[in-house]
Amino acid sequence: MAERKILVTRAWPEEAEARLQAEGLGAVTLRRPDTPMDRAEWMEAAGTYDAILPTVSDRIPAEFYPAAAGKLRIMANYGVGFNHIDIDAARDNGIAVTNTPDVLTDCTADLAMGLLLAAARRIGEGERELRAGNWTGWRPTHMIGKKVTGATLGIIGFGRIGQAMARRAHLGFGMNVVFQDAWEVPEAIKAENGKARQLGSVAEVAAQADFLSLHCPGGAETYKLVNADVFAAMKPGAILVNSARGDVVDEDALFDALDSGRLAGAGLDVYMGEPALDPRFLEYEILVLAPHLGSATQATRAAMGHRAIDNLKAYLAGNTPGDLVT
Ligand code: DGY
Repeated sequence: MAERKILVTRAWPEEAEARLQAEGLGAVTLRRPDTPMDRAEWMEAAGTYDAILPTVSDRIPAEFYPAAAGKLRIMANYGVGFNHIDIDAARDNGIAVTNTPDVLTDCTADLAMGLLLAAARRIGEGERELRAGNWTGWRPTHMIGKKVTGATLGIIGFGRIGQAMARRAHLGFGMNVVFQDAWEVPEAIKAENGKARQLGSVAEVAAQADFLSLHCPGGAETYKLVNADVFAAMKPGAILVNSARGDVVDEDALFDALDSGRLAGAGLDVYMGEPALDPRFLEYEILVLAPHLGSATQATRAAMGHRAIDNLKAYLAGNTPGDLVT
């Protein structure tokens, strides 16, 4: 029998790549250079590999799935979000999909809290002023921000990361937490996670929030969920934090809300069509812009690799992987 072929689409932390090679699961290709695969590479991969370990920045052509049918058995995604994978097409073509939840919850919530603080207290703007040599010294009216402690945080999506954000905000900063999620969250979970209160809609949360933080998955159901209506419902001077997915926010509406003053600022880690950025983002000093760093710590990125390998190993051994999506 031909040796099983496994492809890792992007460079992983050394420790995780070394383990994958040592596991003896098949011939492992650690693709280099560390750039996104183009369409031709995806189509070639479709007929070549038994297992592919893709990640969030992969753009997988629609024709890939039928072309991979019968050969590719599993896509063990490196990452919790899987909106870059067409789950229905994978299922229809007999391809299992797994992801890597849990291991990036804390670091993503840490980053979201960091973006919230940086946007509220204008840390990026202040640093740029200082580095440019424009700081003229302390004065009572200099770079006034928005108080975080005791303010109301609205959370959209109360899954693992939303809950972790709620705990940080409530326990660390005495924030009141309100949230929206499609599932009715049990009282015990709300109590344990920032004594959070569930509201009926995104607009209701926006109306109460001094800070609105997004933690829902990307994909068709949440595409431009935060639109002009949501911005209109927000308190004037509110701040938006997005560490979820860029396409959850209608970016035209975001710029309008900044122009009208409805939004006092935003801390953003993700963008529609990233890494290409709408040039308007760079025009606003009050925006804190990070390059999709939510899970970017040594510990978490290694753990994501281990989790993807655990899923792959379980699947190839004929067991149900812990993180089977489809
Ligand atoms: C994910 O895992 O979905 C993040 O966006 C990248 O860590």
